[in-house]
Amino acid sequence: MEKLSLALKCSKLLRKLTYYARQISTRCTHIRLCVCRMMEVEVGLHNVLLVRSEGIYSAIGNQCTHYGAPLSKGVLSGHRVRCPWHGACFNIQTGDLEEYPGMDCLPCHTVKVENNKVYVSNGILGLSVRVCAQVPCVYVVACVSVRDGVLSFSVSAGSASLVCAETLRQENFGGRIIMVTRDNLLPYDKTRLSKVNYPNSLSEAFSSSVLLSWQAMSLDTEKKKVTFDDGSVQSYDQLLISTGSKGLECPGKDLENVKMLETPEDARQIHVACMGCHIVIVGTSFVGMEVASYMTDKASSITVIGSSELPYQKTLGPEIGKVTMMMLAEKDVAFYMNDNVSEVRGENGKVKEVVLKSGTVIPADVLIVGIGVIPNSEFLQGTPIAMDSKSSVIVDKCMRTNVLEVFCGGDLATFPLTMAKDQRVNIGHWQMAQAHGRVAALNMLNIPTELNSVPYYWTVLLGKNIRYTGYGEGYTDIVVKGKVEEQKFLAFYIKDDEVIAAASLNYDPAVSAVAERFAAGNTITKKEAEYVATHIPLSHCKHIIIFSPGRQTDTSTHGHTL
Ligand SMILES: Cc1cc2nc3c(=O)[nH]c(=O)nc-3n(C[C@H](O)[C@H](O)[C@H](O)COP(=O)(O)OP(=O)(O)OC[C@H]3O[C@@H](n4cnc5c(N)ncnc54)[C@H](O)[C@@H]3O)c2cc1C
Ligand code: FES
Repeated sequence: MEKLSLALKCSKLLRKLTYYARQISTRCTHIRLCVCRMMEVEVGLHNVLLVRSEGIYSAIGNQCTHYGAPLSKGVLSGHRVRCPWHGACFNIQTGDLEEYPGMDCLPCHTVKVENNKVYVSNGILGLSVRVCAQVPCVYVVACVSVRDGVLSFSVSAGSASLVCAETLRQENFGGRIIMVTRDNLLPYDKTRLSKVNYPNSLSEAFSSSVLLSWQAMSLDTEKKKVTFDDGSVQSYDQLLISTGSKGLECPGKDLENVKMLETPEDARQIHVACMGCHIVIVGTSFVGMEVASYMTDKASSITVIGSSELPYQKTLGPEIGKVTMMMLAEKDVAFYMNDNVSEVRGENGKVKEVVLKSGTVIPADVLIVGIGVIPNSEFLQGTPIAMDSKSSVIVDKCMRTNVLEVFCGGDLATFPLTMAKDQRVNIGHWQMAQAHGRVAALNMLNIPTELNSVPYYWTVLLGKNIRYTGYGEGYTDIVVKGKVEEQKFLAFYIKDDEVIAAASLNYDPAVSAVAERFAAGNTITKKEAEYVATHIPLSHCKHIIIFSPGRQTDTSTHGHTL
């Protein structure tokens, strides 16, 4: 009863607030004090997020700097708000970006409280360091600064190195920064390759040199030199290696129209080759399934081959895997599961048909291969840099390898994950690679910083987003809230009676709430997950997930958390 009346009060106040917020004056908007914690208000031409935390009001831009999600629909926890879509976090007082994949900080607005009314200024207070630091550009590209004479060098121009370069400049690093990549493009948003085909260029190079089409062939850590495919040699003072990973090859790789999706050029070629054709996709993990989804209105037939019984079986579990398979099957995507490619036949140098281990023969104009990943670490063989059995580079929480002045980050790194009790993990997420880049940069500058990011991932199928947070490897149980078959659910992945990961579809911002809980270092017990699954309405889910005290299992207490 108590909760219900609070909820009613809240919704009435929200309506009132919205009404007041619409009474916009040209200079500022005033609205009444309320019990609500955050809401979107229109102030002049801006959509502003008005927040009340610990009795203090603040106002920042409401649009996430990643893909523009409304932060008012996200999760407020302490001094920050987490985006409902992909988990970026912003400081509610300064607008600073505190967790990726956001790209910049948010504008801040002045707030004053007078006579029981809140006034939000139309003018922007100014952008804080994340953006401002890029403006002066006082360091000339490709020039070793005389001030500190340090050369920071990064092999790759991917997600981790870009953020590393950006952070170095934000922290006023005056030395020369060189990014080298075997790609012929400036850094871009790789996550869009399998979703919309045309990735954004993230081409701000933060006053650093970006050397394109240079492939590192070997590294001499004694002499601090990297040798490239054209024989040229580059020295460094500090090195970040973040060459990422690549997909496993499949038979027939030399035939025309056998493709892997790793670069914008791959995406372009796949897009062109697939229009109105018979496509076969090998692999039912994120990339294979996203490509199948993207192609549903473009190809004349799509066949997906998977080695497990269901897509995403290991990561998301069979129940969710089955639903994703049905979603695509309804769009006429054919699945051959528990099978594998044994031969790829060609004609005139071009792929013609794919033969499966089961004996099935599938006609193919294009074969897209999305199976497994291996680290791009060949050029490190023979160096003293420690690697694990899968050839990923081992780093500590500061992204340091075992060799002085050599750092590693992104998909290539195996690192201790705080939320997994420092278990050493290798995670191929865009947001995690960015976090690595930042931590590496700060430690390069002798600002001791440890990685504390919580993994966050998303995938898009037929316009629907599955969100995922945590590290679910080795889960033994799944507790589901909602109905998987109705494509509206929140799934908790359990190991040793604790939630280690969560996934959702149409249940925002529940996964962001779980991520915030993990980030605060609080565990969610299996009992809590079961309580949330059975007793809590969706509208209250995020509050319960965030605020329940870590180890609490007495379900009677949960009902009063709001
Ligand atoms: C199609 C696709 C879709 C994805 N979708 C998502 C998603 O939705 N969400 C998500 O979180 N993650 C997604 N990912 C994963 C994400 O893109 C990676 O986790 C992230 O890009 C890793 O960043 P990185 O800096 O480690 O490496 P990368 O961004 O892969 O950059 C590596 C760079 O190193 C260069 N390089 C490699 N070897 C050498 C060498 N020897 N010499 C010089 N340069 C070299 C490469 O050319 C490249 O520029 C996706 C990946 C792919 C391929
Ligand atoms: S839109 Fe906010 S994190 Fe992606």
